[in-house]
Amino acid sequence: MLKTHSCGELRSEHIGQTVTLAGWVNKRRDMGGVIFIDLRDRAGKAQVVVDAGRSADAFAAAAGVRGEYVVQVTGQVSRRPAGQENTGLPTGEIEVLADRVVVLNTAKPTPFPIDRDDAVDETVRLRYRYLDLRRERMQRNLVLRHNAVKFIRDFLGARGFIEVETPILFKSTPEGARDYLVPSRVHPGKFYALPQSPQQLKQLLMVAGYERYFQIARCFRDEDLRADRQPEFTQLDMEMSFVERDDVLNLIEELMVGMVKAVSLVPLAHEQFPRLSYAEATERFGTDRPDLRYGLELVDIGDIAGSSAFRVFAENVAAGKRVKAICAPGCGTYSRKQLDDLEAMARAQGAKALAWLAIQPDTGEIRGPIAKFFTVDQLIALTERLDAKPGDLILIASDSKAIVHNALSALRTELARRLGLTDEKKLAFAWVIDFPLFEEAMEEGHFAPSHHMFTAPKPEHIPLLDSDPAAVLSQQYDLVCNGYEVAGGSIRIHDQTLQAKIMSLIGFSMEQAREQFGHLLEAFEFGAPPHGGIAPGIDRLMALMAGEPNIREVMAFPKTAQATDLMADAPSVVLPRQLDELQLAIKAKS
Ligand code: AMO
Repeated sequence: MLKTHSCGELRSEHIGQTVTLAGWVNKRRDMGGVIFIDLRDRAGKAQVVVDAGRSADAFAAAAGVRGEYVVQVTGQVSRRPAGQENTGLPTGEIEVLADRVVVLNTAKPTPFPIDRDDAVDETVRLRYRYLDLRRERMQRNLVLRHNAVKFIRDFLGARGFIEVETPILFKSTPEGARDYLVPSRVHPGKFYALPQSPQQLKQLLMVAGYERYFQIARCFRDEDLRADRQPEFTQLDMEMSFVERDDVLNLIEELMVGMVKAVSLVPLAHEQFPRLSYAEATERFGTDRPDLRYGLELVDIGDIAGSSAFRVFAENVAAGKRVKAICAPGCGTYSRKQLDDLEAMARAQGAKALAWLAIQPDTGEIRGPIAKFFTVDQLIALTERLDAKPGDLILIASDSKAIVHNALSALRTELARRLGLTDEKKLAFAWVIDFPLFEEAMEEGHFAPSHHMFTAPKPEHIPLLDSDPAAVLSQQYDLVCNGYEVAGGSIRIHDQTLQAKIMSLIGFSMEQAREQFGHLLEAFEFGAPPHGGIAPGIDRLMALMAGEPNIREVMAFPKTAQATDLMADAPSVVLPRQLDELQLAIKAKS
């Protein structure tokens, strides 16, 4: 080894020892006959003192050293002079008095400072990701990720799970996103698809009798990217045989609580994860991935608003639409502009308008363009239902259920941000269960599965598949945290007849089904055990546990929102010869 110790590991117990360190020059200060070097490696930083009086050679070598040079130092660990200790640094009690300094490599000036957590334009960070990864924040995040994945492996290994790798070159899987395709050279005109998840393969492993499988699995989805979405991401993919829903939920809950306690930088809000039905989550929060760190719940006021003299509300309620409201504490003095901004947010979610009532802080008088359409009794009933106090603002949306929920959910998130309700860092996990088996809107006359087509209906709802498919609830479950969906899974269908029925409701002919998932359907004829599983998104969990707003911050080499790699410049054009081999030609866009 070119070093005996790590820079960051030196403490007062090393005083008196001669050590050799190797690392990067974090900072260099020339004080005339003495040069101070902060030497950095992954473990941390140590102060090196190069005194011309102690070693003229070391001093001469240190004189030419610049930031980010790679340097080897041999010297004696010594206590810092009284008053010069740095309590903010784990190695702050000691320094290394250099006897020898060797420059192992030089470095160009870096495009941004490595030693400070300055805000740097993200495109520059991604272009020079290897330099960005040198920074403390990224190192902290990747170490956290390593610790979390190690915790997961140990936890599941101790409970009888085995890790099995599944292919990356596979066949198109129906997870709802677009596939990344890989052309086959050996079979011109045919394509592999990169897995959107190992869903079918893990079910096949259950048929194969593995009972408890997991994998830290790479998944690929060609979809529009957001802060919590990457084209290539990682799941803790798992599946269990002979289990019921609660077996999966309890195991994952124990895993999450254990993992957060062991490695997270952000603590749990509560150790028992609340369980909300899909219906309850959407009614109370307007979304199936509610942020439970705060209240600001949506309240139905259809009965009061529908009997008011405000025509829009009355007509909507008569037509079966909804009127719901949210109370924003202390926002009753919002300016016209602030209210217009909120209305614009509601409109962006499809709402035609946003009504408001402001309760004056001093008089308790209720103001707002629609106030005059309500009787005093109705206004009192409204404020009581919303628990609104003087100084509060009531925001009201009326439309179809979906629009009302989307609009008020967006406002709820925005108000929480403005009111600082998410400032305190904590992780509020919750389960969402009892999802509808099918999405509300039909696509081309067919139902679309709300999770995927292998999700089992609740057993007591199977008869409804014939009479009222839209009312069927499934055995799907999602784990949500702070407004993000962090895991999704379900108890699967293991019965071939039931699987065929669901496929026909989705609009798959048996023929199409055989073409796409013949292997799975056939496997089910050979004794498929009852089974179920789940897939927590590793990147989202890591971002939450690191307190990061974006999953790119917990991935070593992420892509931009345009799905490009700025460092390697991918995707890129390929040589004509490569296309020829694949018998592919690039078509001009028509
Ligand atoms: P699902 O599609 O819900 O389920 O995905 C599971 C979890 O994976 C994460 N995730 C993503 N993370 C980053 N970028 C993306 N583009 C992305 N897409 C999904 C989320 C999500 O909750 N096979 C099923 C699981 C099962 O049924 O067992 C599946 O993939 O955290």
